[in-house]
Amino acid sequence: MLVRVLDGHQAFPPPIWMMRQAGRYLPEYRTLRQKAGGFLDLCYTPELATEATLQPIRRYGFDAAILFSDILVVPDALGQSVRFAEGEGPVLEPLSLDRLDDLDPTVVGHKLAAVIEAVGMIRAALPDETALLGFCGAPWTVATYMIAGRGTPDQGPARKAALLDPERFARLIDVLVAASIDYLIRQLDAGADAVQVFDTWAGVLDAAEFERWVIAPMRAIVQGVRAKRPSARFIGFPKGGFGFAERYVAQTGVNAIGLDWTVPLDVVRDSLQPQVAVQGTLDPMRVVVGGRALEQGIDAILETLGAGRLIFNLGHGITPDADPAHVATMVARVRAATATG
Ligand code: CP3
Repeated sequence: MLVRVLDGHQAFPPPIWMMRQAGRYLPEYRTLRQKAGGFLDLCYTPELATEATLQPIRRYGFDAAILFSDILVVPDALGQSVRFAEGEGPVLEPLSLDRLDDLDPTVVGHKLAAVIEAVGMIRAALPDETALLGFCGAPWTVATYMIAGRGTPDQGPARKAALLDPERFARLIDVLVAASIDYLIRQLDAGADAVQVFDTWAGVLDAAEFERWVIAPMRAIVQGVRAKRPSARFIGFPKGGFGFAERYVAQTGVNAIGLDWTVPLDVVRDSLQPQVAVQGTLDPMRVVVGGRALEQGIDAILETLGAGRLIFNLGHGITPDADPAHVATMVARVRAATATG
């Protein structure tokens, strides 16, 4: 059903899945994570990555599973070692733009063989009606971590590098575009029905920089993958870039655009939904709070966007403090919805 929406059809109730649906809010994930040791051990052991991917499908019966991995496995495969420190998030050796020749985009697909193996195992284990989504980080967002070596409040180090040295920054983006094309093609060949490209930090760029580092690389990825796999389906998620959404859609050729919870739903319905499927947009805080706040958030999305092409999702990943029972309530309410016309 999710694939049909990506192919241009409308469905009501809409298909539903959740960003970060496998994660720390689930007790069974926390158990698996402890057994695995490190977070990257979970990503690079196909049996464990498969189990993590399937946990939310078993519990909630979502319409899509998303490969359990991380956007930072690409820098790891490019040779910039990544570790996940307990309670501080990702830590990388900060990349100097003088050292770009050390990165080899042609090896990414091979180095991530364990992830690709997981894609095949997951597809074999999933019910036929459940779509499987592959993913990667968008070049801009991945570059923000590669340059700073960690998450940053304002992505300052990467913004500064892009303005100070745009030629060399463009070379880094080109390496990430090439690596992403290769990696996504391998995910599609192993059984992914569609791929999502996460541009979590798109919203910090001005208009010129958004065009150059968000739209242009995404267009290159979509065209590069479709040159070899013409039917490849894409969900783009340029978080925080709603002001650029129409041109992002027109210029990249994505099948769907992911939107966060700060967007005006009536504008989405009138200007964006006629052109493309939209995904989102529930505030993850409503899933933490539950009750009326959750119900009202769900109903507003279904009422305003339910008559067009919609994939129900949160506006960003579910947070570790969310109650798993609230997720069950959300799925039931979306599935029980009837068209109000
Ligand atoms: O959505 C899914 O369920 C699939 C798996 C997935 C993870 N990360 C697992 C993960 C996906 C699609 C991602 C994407 C990702 N990773 C993004 C883009 C989307 C977003 O959420 O903004 C980004 C920016 C990252 C980088 C990253 N990974 C950070 C900043 C962190 C630390 C913060 C945190 O939530 O812990 C991670 C770790 C991470 N990735 C975890 C999971 C389940 C938690 C690690 C753990 O188990 O300790």
